Amino acid sequence: MTLYDLAKPLLFRLPPETAHTAVHTGLRGLQATPLADRLESHYQVTDDRLQTEAFGQQFPNPVGVAAGFDKNAEISGALQSLGFGFVEVGGVTAEPQEGNSRPRMFRLPDDEALINRMGLNNDGADVVGRRLLRTDVNVPVGVNIAKTEHVAPADAPADYRRTYERVAEGADFFVVNVSCPNSQGFEELQNRDSMAAIFETLTDVGASPLLVKLSPDLPEPAVEDALNIVSEFDLDGVVATNTTTERPASLRSPNRTEEGGLSGKPIEGEATEMVRFVAERTDVPVVGVGGVSTAEGAYRKIRAGASLVQLYTGLVYRGPSISQEINRGLLELLEQDGFDSVDEAVGADL
Ligand code: FNR
Repeated sequence: MTLYDLAKPLLFRLPPETAHTAVHTGLRGLQATPLADRLESHYQVTDDRLQTEAFGQQFPNPVGVAAGFDKNAEISGALQSLGFGFVEVGGVTAEPQEGNSRPRMFRLPDDEALINRMGLNNDGADVVGRRLLRTDVNVPVGVNIAKTEHVAPADAPADYRRTYERVAEGADFFVVNVSCPNSQGFEELQNRDSMAAIFETLTDVGASPLLVKLSPDLPEPAVEDALNIVSEFDLDGVVATNTTTERPASLRSPNRTEEGGLSGKPIEGEATEMVRFVAERTDVPVVGVGGVSTAEGAYRKIRAGASLVQLYTGLVYRGPSISQEINRGLLELLEQDGFDSVDEAVGADL
């Protein structure tokens, strides 16, 4: 019985966004207190075999927090204390945004899933950029950069550049989010020409390391187009995947009919297949995300070609010990299969 086993039923009685805010407030409060250090020594799994290097950054372990959990770069320190090896903050837009009206986040408890249509609510690049400069963490912190809602797709390159310039100094890597299903105009951003214009603008201003985050709903030819962009603009990595607007027939929870992006267990297999598809076609590191909640699931993505994994929904359902459990489990799985490090297992199934 963990503390989260006790807290979860209480949190799950609250509306999901209220519960998220409560957890967020708690995590923010404990940062820079002696408790943070104690949590860190409890949750962190320190082992050379888990350390990895990707796009010029050193990661103490391969398990990170996906975009959306720390939208405004307020709790990266606390997430490091929970043992995560990196954090992707954001999505951040050039201007602050309210996002969609509430409710906009829904639990699907029978499916261990969430549906969200947050609509990229965030404090804006100026505020987040300043906060990043004050953020004192030892793990890599990336920023997920998204298009401002009211900006037309044709003006997206300049909009992404504005955001990049405001957050550049405080971040270790940059993820261009062209795959948010909950904000206007995003479908158009994933076509070849739009992506080329965005990445030309960002590489011209020296954005690096630069990654692209893809939707699991992209048909294969569109993924291949995106991968051509990765090589044409010498990008540093691919994050696969974002949430899906698909609704697998297996979903049982009443909230399955809500509009928005589905995340969690039901997208695990598809996200892993997308990791494999991408890893088979590119040499850059792949960050595998979608339904990771166990060591076995993380290991499947690693063997399918992911150099790093990330999660969001798993943290909601499994609680704060999830990174510790995954990292400990990964060490056992590596040992079982005779690998000396996570690096050795990356792409073992390709
Ligand atoms: C997200 N995700 C997300 N992704 C992104 O690129 N920018 C964002 O701002 C957000 N915001 C966001 C909010 C909420 C409430 C959720 C649940 C998710 C997507 C997230 O980073 C991840 O790609 C998916 O959730 C799949 O991973 P999990 O949740 O199955 O581990």
